[in-house]
Amino acid sequence: MAAPPGQSSAQTVPEHVAVIMDGNGRWARSRGMPRAAGHRAGVKSAKAIVQACGERGIRVLTLFAFSSENWSRPRSEVSALMKLMLEALGREVNELAQKGVQLRFVGARHRLSEDIQNRMANAEQCTSGNDKLILVIALGYGGRWDLVQAAQELAREVRDGGLEPEAIDEESISRHLSLAPLPDPDLLIRTGGESRISNFLLWNLAYSELYFTDCLWPDFDSSGLDEALAFFASRDRRFGRVVEKVGSA
Ligand code: IPE
Ligand code: IPE
Ligand code: MG
Repeated sequence: MAAPPGQSSAQTVPEHVAVIMDGNGRWARSRGMPRAAGHRAGVKSAKAIVQACGERGIRVLTLFAFSSENWSRPRSEVSALMKLMLEALGREVNELAQKGVQLRFVGARHRLSEDIQNRMANAEQCTSGNDKLILVIALGYGGRWDLVQAAQELAREVRDGGLEPEAIDEESISRHLSLAPLPDPDLLIRTGGESRISNFLLWNLAYSELYFTDCLWPDFDSSGLDEALAFFASRDRRFGRVVEKVGSA
């Protein structure tokens, strides 16, 4: 893929960026607003970052919108988040489709309302032929849930005689995880000041570069993204190997 203007080489642009969009509640509280207002502002940020990632030649963007554990928040906050999700799906999908974005959702869908599930399925169907940017939304997602459902599928294959237990390897586990067949994230960005993974893509983040910023998600914009991309471009990714530099002894 050719490097977009402003980037020094295609190798310095991550192919897959994953984002933990954290800090909406604190953003709202600091303005004396209800947490839901922070989530609403967060949707705007997400829209801007999708656009910016497309412009920078990033091929896959995965956004953590709602975790398995977020179901334990007060019922009123969960409803506000679900309402926002339903509205955003109704409002944004046509424009995303026109811009060549392919939408995919990962997470335990059965806990979501039928309305949301239908809009998700429809969004996936009507954007499935697009390839400018693959936008993955993690909704009701947990890294442990993902590993459990992969283990269950593999166990069913063993039970039905299609798979020997000894044949289970990293490749077959990867293939049953929600992100398959997409590549693992090259760069993880977490806004909101915490330096933790919070049960996001436990398997897929094995060799991702991790970028944490204090910036709260509703304040995160394309210049924040560019800082994260500059951090990524400066990393020496060794994947456990020794990388010989030209001219070194
Ligand atoms: C992230 O913002 C959005 C979701 C987890 C749904 P938070 O709601 O976690 O905001 P803080 O971390 O409380 O500020
Ligand atoms: C992680 O944020 C989940 C999402 C951004 C969707 P949380 O706010 O739920 O994580 P913790 O509670 O700080 O670990
Ligand atoms: Mg949070």
